[in-house]
Amino acid sequence: MCGIVGAVLSEGAVLEGLLDGLRALEYRGYDSAGVAVGIEGGVSIRRQAGRLESLEQALADGALDGARIGIGHTRWATHGPPTEINAHPHTDAGGRVALVHNGIIENYLELREELCEEGVEFVSDTDTEVLAQLVGRYLGRGGDLAAAVRATLARVRGYYAIAALAIDGDGDTLVCARQGPPLCLGIVAGGAHLASDPLALVRHTREVVFLEDGDVAVLRPGSCEVTDGSGGAVERPAVLLEIDAEQAGRGSYPHFMLKEIHEQPDVLARTAFDRIDEVGGEVRFVEEGWEVERLRAIERVQLLACGTARYACQVAAFQLEGLAGVPAEVDYASEFRYRSPCLSPDTLALAISQSGETADTLAALRLARELGARAGAICNVPESTLVREADCFLMTCAGPEIGVASTKAFVSQIVTSYLLAVAVGRARGTLDPERVRGLLADLRLLRPRLAQLLSRETQERIAAIAERHHDVKGFLFLGRGIHYPVALEGALKLKEISYMHAEGYPAGEMKHGPIALIEPGMTTVVIANKGPLAEKVRSNLEQVRARGGQVICVGSDPGSLALADETIEVPQATPWLAPVLSVAPLQLLAYEIALRRGCDIDKPRNLAKSVTVE
Ligand code: AGP
Repeated sequence: MCGIVGAVLSEGAVLEGLLDGLRALEYRGYDSAGVAVGIEGGVSIRRQAGRLESLEQALADGALDGARIGIGHTRWATHGPPTEINAHPHTDAGGRVALVHNGIIENYLELREELCEEGVEFVSDTDTEVLAQLVGRYLGRGGDLAAAVRATLARVRGYYAIAALAIDGDGDTLVCARQGPPLCLGIVAGGAHLASDPLALVRHTREVVFLEDGDVAVLRPGSCEVTDGSGGAVERPAVLLEIDAEQAGRGSYPHFMLKEIHEQPDVLARTAFDRIDEVGGEVRFVEEGWEVERLRAIERVQLLACGTARYACQVAAFQLEGLAGVPAEVDYASEFRYRSPCLSPDTLALAISQSGETADTLAALRLARELGARAGAICNVPESTLVREADCFLMTCAGPEIGVASTKAFVSQIVTSYLLAVAVGRARGTLDPERVRGLLADLRLLRPRLAQLLSRETQERIAAIAERHHDVKGFLFLGRGIHYPVALEGALKLKEISYMHAEGYPAGEMKHGPIALIEPGMTTVVIANKGPLAEKVRSNLEQVRARGGQVICVGSDPGSLALADETIEVPQATPWLAPVLSVAPLQLLAYEIALRRGCDIDKPRNLAKSVTVE
């Protein structure tokens, strides 16, 4: 997911602020970066493939230091390889305009041909350069930058967040526009700032304006004028951000991912404890759209998500069916949107997403609504597109999740879906107040258990296991029932940040193929908790051991723990919440292995924090 920043100041230099903003957006994933500034009557651009450090070196000559207006960009390549020439900002043939873009211009080829017929020579492979050339064309026909941007966007099909500056006219005007990917503004005395993500603005102000689709904004030092899709002036109210610069930082942790793993007990409390009434035996949501009548009307739930969020959907399905007695189906959003699903008005389509900007998840929920379902969401970003579009939503109060590998968001998703399942069960009469009081007490007990599991002693134990397994040929993760999605999540965590091959499987499937993989040098992680399936998991574990495979057992079942080569004991918890405890050691295991493999833990190769394109 690309990152955009921009600023115009009445005095002082803009460059360091642009770089700070880009650093705040690094977590989104990128493979090149660049800045453009207006200085001495011209537009100067510096771009570099690779990390921000390369761009900082290219700026070390100080030639751009005095600029008061500028834009910056981190690019996650879609059209064309991650090279300097494809990096943003892009400019027009006359070198008068600089423009950055997040999104995809679907009709860029026809526009490119039109411009080529006018003699324009393109230098990059990108759809963004087409935008820059069009803005330059319209600017050359007269009018100001805002008019040229509007004329350009009138020709465009696709979705975008863009920011542009030009040397013509008043040199202190930034123009930006949104149709899809988010864009927000921070207006302060003597300055105006824009960014793809409020995390890049919180250092300037916590009062942030979020543009709506179709908006075009003109920024000058200390002010902004916003027009909507029809060109009419609109007022977009500022929102006070719940986060501050300190929360958005890494603190004393070496990586955001480790900080976010250790935040999970507090995240659990923030997500759950204001929503439960243990005395009355009730769950109460402050978000609108979850009234008892609405909950009672839910006859079926269609869960939709990608990646880690989809594994949270699988846990949610167990909770909804087991506690509320409501049929629940899970699908990859990227699959759902291209099949012919059968939904009905009493279906709740429930999208789960940390960012609320995942293109496949947004598209799947839009399709579900078109097919008659009520569109619900569980999301971590209040200002996200998903939250804005959903008929009803529940927030996961995880705070900003910077590490690309999702951890605390996953736990907060599971806790939120648990509360929803209890609320639906209560509304349908499947759960009486007494049973609800018990389920809420279980939730209250979870936090100290999770905190105990994340102790230094456990982390040191897991580090020692990682030391012995960080260079094996591969991993299998096995789990049964509600722990099958935890096995999938554990495998994904390891894949994402250590680049090792790891596969999650239902433990009962071992004999149907994967057991052929078992041999010395292949490590199998088995999630084995006390309960009705314990004996079956124990036998899967024995089958692995019998073929020379090494086993790491994560769980509370003494029988399985006694058979394993390595053990990570997990406190017992109610089955519906047990994944919160069994996933934590897997997060730490992935972290410790990636550390030993020298991987970039917070910004793994090829990955973006939110995949806003297909
Ligand atoms: C999880 O560690 C990955 N970063 C990825 O699978 C992620 O969960 C997926 O892209 C969905 O993102 P979302 O929750 O923001 O929609």
